[in-house]
Amino acid sequence: MGETFTVLIVGGGGREHALGWKFAQDPRIQKIWFAPGNAGTARVGKNLPIPATDVEGITRWAEKEKPGLVVVGPEAPLCAGLADRLRQLGIRVFGPGAKGAQLEGSKSFCKDLLVRQGIPTARAGSFSRTREALVFLETLSCPVVVKADGLAAGKGVVIAESHGEAKQAMAEMMEGRVFGDAGAKVVLEEFLVGEELSLHAVTDGKNLVLLPSAQDHKRVGEGDTGLNTGGMGAYSPAPRATPELLREVETRILRPTLAGLAALGIEYRGVLYAGLMLTADGPMVLEYNCRFGDPETEVLLPLLDSPVWDLLVAAAEGNLGKAEVRTRAGAAMTVVMAAQGYPARPVLGQRIEFGVEVPDTAIFHAGTREGNGGAEVSGGRVLAVTGWGDDLRIARDRAYGAVGTIDFQGKHFRRDIGHRALGKDTFPK
Ligand code: AMP
Ligand code: GLY
Repeated sequence: MGETFTVLIVGGGGREHALGWKFAQDPRIQKIWFAPGNAGTARVGKNLPIPATDVEGITRWAEKEKPGLVVVGPEAPLCAGLADRLRQLGIRVFGPGAKGAQLEGSKSFCKDLLVRQGIPTARAGSFSRTREALVFLETLSCPVVVKADGLAAGKGVVIAESHGEAKQAMAEMMEGRVFGDAGAKVVLEEFLVGEELSLHAVTDGKNLVLLPSAQDHKRVGEGDTGLNTGGMGAYSPAPRATPELLREVETRILRPTLAGLAALGIEYRGVLYAGLMLTADGPMVLEYNCRFGDPETEVLLPLLDSPVWDLLVAAAEGNLGKAEVRTRAGAAMTVVMAAQGYPARPVLGQRIEFGVEVPDTAIFHAGTREGNGGAEVSGGRVLAVTGWGDDLRIARDRAYGAVGTIDFQGKHFRRDIGHRALGKDTFPK
């Protein structure tokens, strides 16, 4: 028998299920644990009753069980220093330490680094005092973007149509503390016009490997209307991401970012996920995330042909220079099926009924738990249903075909995922 490996995946959403699903296809992987996982991950590995944010609990468990690799899904444990703790114990971990995770955990840290490195981004200022913020506000034309500095679960950004609206948003963040301490500091920035693109690079701090481009759909409603969500669907690759554009992003954005981190003494090992705006003046950084995107991971991993173990271990060990990454031709799409009332007030507890399996699709569980009679809804984003194939239309038809086999009370999903790439008129009415 050849070498065998074990892995702990921290988190319990669609991203973590997709990671586990990909690891499970590798005959060398003997054991997969999730902390805490969901009803879907329980079918590819073992769920541990440890929340993703329980840095102490995860560290204690890992010290005892010695997994071959820990992959950290969400940003909160990374910002809280989980990767540092595990590295101190000699445990291999994919994900940056707390200092590197500030790229996502502090928008002002990110902005300062971008400006220092001359990386294209919206003109901005960060403020912990209202008076200074108001002076800077006068220099921005509307709409103005107001951001809470810290982690706010994707909700800390307000696009203000007037200075009055911007002042109100600032007051709610800085004085009202609607996002707690995350809003003690705010970033004010100019509004960028263009199409958004998600670009993931796996890095060991020196080398980087680009994963296919992707596009997320943040708004709850078709035609990109309604409230912001954690993401209602994604597809990959994005036609706008031509090889020239990707080269430009790599040389003008991603490599200078790694150089900026290195200059601070930060060895960043994990995912550098750039949220980009493709403006008339070229690609600009909207934000960085320090981990895999959700639901982007649910389309990136089905397109990865080489084993995810080798890639993530190479990054974790600082050996990415030798890593080989193969992606398959074609495209993938994922459609998020959400709970009734999501995102405002999701209703939980409904039983989920699954139908026949559709070839070339995968159903990734996000907000589910094991109930008495099978899987039930336990979170706003319930499932991410992915299809893949030779082109995006085929991927879409498969994804929606699989969506059609699943039922739960109050389910809702967007019927227009991929509309920018495929054209609105190509969707069945
Ligand atoms: P962020 O968390 O910084 O990515 O912001 C969340 C969303 O707000 C982004 O995905 C964009 O849709 C929007 N956004 C953020 N910053 C800007 C900006 N400067 N101009 C236009 N839209 C923005
Ligand atoms: N898909 C957006 C995110 O993961 O932040």
